[in-house]
Amino acid sequence: MPAANNPAERAADLRRRIENANHRYYVLDDPSIPDADYDALMRELEALEAAHPELASPDSPTRTVGARPDGGFPEVHHAIPMLSLANAFETPGVPDDADDRTRFAEVADFERRIEQKLDVRDPVFSVEPKLDGLAISLRYEGGAFVQGSTRGDGTTGEDVTANLRQVRSVPLRLRDAGVPVPEVLEVRGEIYMPRKDFAEWNARALAHNDKLLANPRNGAAGSLRQLDPAVTRRRPLALFAYGIGEVRGLELPETHSETLALLRRFGFPVAPEVDTAVGFDGLIAYYRRIGAARDTLPYDIDGVVYKLDDYDQQQAMGFVSRAPRWALAHKFPAQEQATVLRAIEVQIGRTGAVTPVARLQPVQVAGVTVTNATLHNADQIARLDVREGDTVIVRRAGDVIPEIVRVVEDQRPPGTVPWTMPAHCPVCGSDIVREDGEAAYRCSGGLACAAQRREALRHFASRRAMDIEGLGDRQADALVEFGFVQSLDDLYTLTVEDLVRMKAALDAATAADLLQAVADSRGALVLDDEGTALLAQAGSEGVDVHWKRAGFLRAHLAVELGGRLASRWAENLVAGIDASRNATLARFLFGLGIPHLGETTAKALAHWLGTLAFVRTTPATLLQALPDIGGEVARSIATFFEQPGNAAVVDALLASGIRFSDEGPPAAALRERLDLAHLLATLPVDKLGGKSAQRLAETYGTLDALLRANESGWAGAGASRAGAANLAAFLADDDARRSLVEADAAMWRLLDAAPAQAARSAGPLDGRTVVLTGSLASMTRDEAGAKLEALGAKLAGSVSKKTGLVVAGEAAGSKLAKAEELGIEIWDEPALLAFLDAHS
Ligand code: IVH
Repeated sequence: MPAANNPAERAADLRRRIENANHRYYVLDDPSIPDADYDALMRELEALEAAHPELASPDSPTRTVGARPDGGFPEVHHAIPMLSLANAFETPGVPDDADDRTRFAEVADFERRIEQKLDVRDPVFSVEPKLDGLAISLRYEGGAFVQGSTRGDGTTGEDVTANLRQVRSVPLRLRDAGVPVPEVLEVRGEIYMPRKDFAEWNARALAHNDKLLANPRNGAAGSLRQLDPAVTRRRPLALFAYGIGEVRGLELPETHSETLALLRRFGFPVAPEVDTAVGFDGLIAYYRRIGAARDTLPYDIDGVVYKLDDYDQQQAMGFVSRAPRWALAHKFPAQEQATVLRAIEVQIGRTGAVTPVARLQPVQVAGVTVTNATLHNADQIARLDVREGDTVIVRRAGDVIPEIVRVVEDQRPPGTVPWTMPAHCPVCGSDIVREDGEAAYRCSGGLACAAQRREALRHFASRRAMDIEGLGDRQADALVEFGFVQSLDDLYTLTVEDLVRMKAALDAATAADLLQAVADSRGALVLDDEGTALLAQAGSEGVDVHWKRAGFLRAHLAVELGGRLASRWAENLVAGIDASRNATLARFLFGLGIPHLGETTAKALAHWLGTLAFVRTTPATLLQALPDIGGEVARSIATFFEQPGNAAVVDALLASGIRFSDEGPPAAALRERLDLAHLLATLPVDKLGGKSAQRLAETYGTLDALLRANESGWAGAGASRAGAANLAAFLADDDARRSLVEADAAMWRLLDAAPAQAARSAGPLDGRTVVLTGSLASMTRDEAGAKLEALGAKLAGSVSKKTGLVVAGEAAGSKLAKAEELGIEIWDEPALLAFLDAHS
């Protein structure tokens, strides 16, 4: 900051900065500097003007409030101006043991001035939370809401009546308050966005890749200044009333606190924390009480407000330029601070999710040193255009993780570059991939990535995957934590001795925890379930039980029993691991933890492709042409096996002797479900549907021939004009063309390996034409079809006299009706399941 020696220059500089900041804050709803910095500028200007009265001008920002409206809404003149409040902060640099009058010197001065001027002791104050929202004025005539406006510069605000009508807590009519309906009543208050709604709003925005709200205040201000009230209506806004403006035809009470009570009766929400307090000590006690509750309040506050309660006393105190002398805002330490962003790094979560984090030059924010902040995701970084080296505003609210809310653009050093997501995982080097339409990136190194190791092992061993007996989540975590399993295949080299050692380490840790728990609870004799179970086990193991207190008993037993039981447990686990060498391909595929690959898809893959070798080498383009496999999971599977780290782990698992009892050739039915037409139809090419694909395949026979023709040829062969053009555009991309050729080659390899249909042995449904209709609860129609085909059925799409059987699921419609009409045999889902069961 260039320190001008000349006070006039400095004052001009300060005014310019403050006016800029005002414009950004009030007009653009896009603050440029933290509140604390703004306050500091304002104070410096005030001090300068006090020391050099000749510098004070009536239009100085120290005399006006906020900024004039920018013309988007009609102007409203405030007959009673909407004033601002003088601010008090904790005096910087006071020693820890300082007394309150030193620590809160500005509050002490405020209270002392009142005592002196009014010649009273310990005056009564209305004490209120200082809401962090947007000040508004609501005008009621004859009991009806007629106009609502923003504060603007204090004298002239903006007419936002239509928007305020959308705020549910703004009464559209005054309620009966037991007094005559006032001719005119202006109520002043704050529009705010409750924290929970703010968080939900941002969570939704994050999921939809929309712009995030910087903080609840911005959310409220931005929402109220929408030109379309329908937009405001969707925003979760609320009102708290804290004062009044013009009043006609209403006898006001004598104190502010009674007025707030009256406003409640008229139907206005008033913050429940509003109270009264007596003298300086009462003010500070309130400040501390609300400060302690701050993080748990459902709305953001940035301090508390003290207002002399008695209206006569207020009048006697009067005003200084822009603020009353009878009120004071006592601000909490700032929750936002500026600091330098040193670097943006990515963290890999247990499931591979990649989260960018900001490494910051350490900065104190609301009493806590902040060195890291979340940046949410890559889109958020792009939206904020945060770059390494930038000065950024960091915000910390309650127990929420600190976050970066914006960049201070005019402090950007030269030579910065926009941030980009790294291509490889910093932990394992595998590709970082982004799924279509998702905000999240993930590391595709699943098995090879240390960050994902724990989750990978838990999942691999779980019941629905490899079902390794004796290896639950706790044991899996311990194996990883104590370094016994780095990679899944390490499981298969574990020895009984390894496991005994690990169990001892685990038990020692458990015992240490237990002893700590005993120390914490002073050893009261309470046996929980685990303690009781241990005791029973000790009895049956013949362990010598001597104890004084329950906690010691448990710790003692854990070690004692642990030692004795460890070898048995270890032997069992080694046996369980060994047994898992006899696996099924479907369970193994599911166990690899490939994103989006659920059990059903794993079964479908195993069914159609037959061997792991085919699964590993089938390109995504072909995978998605298989029945029951979607595009997203197809890409996910292919990406997984492409990662050298994952491939190495799979090889190592096979080398450790895992075999699949269900491996075999690709399904014979592939011969009817997979051909050039299917392959073409699943390409991401618009207007190239099943029918066009069919005609192209019939005309050209092979992909090679098709690729030798061109757009006009394809159109001539029966594809739609648009479809042919889109196909040409698609194939103009070399990568797309190459993957199609690869998919075609892989398809022929598969079909060559699949047994001929005729070789199938006669099934119970041989020759019968079956129609599936409606939806089944236990499987997809494709799956049911495959199972029926395996038993000899011929599938058909519509019901005719030739139909032999109709399987009707939930909500079956016209096909079922037709089958009934024709008297064809009909099965419901239980009948189908019973039949499949009998023939499996
Ligand atoms: S009274 C003459 N009470 O703080 C007094 N203001 O800096 C006028 N505010 O514009 C304001 N909570 O936006 C008052 N309980 C409260 C308040 C409050 C928040 C805001 C309001 C006002 C600003 C003054």
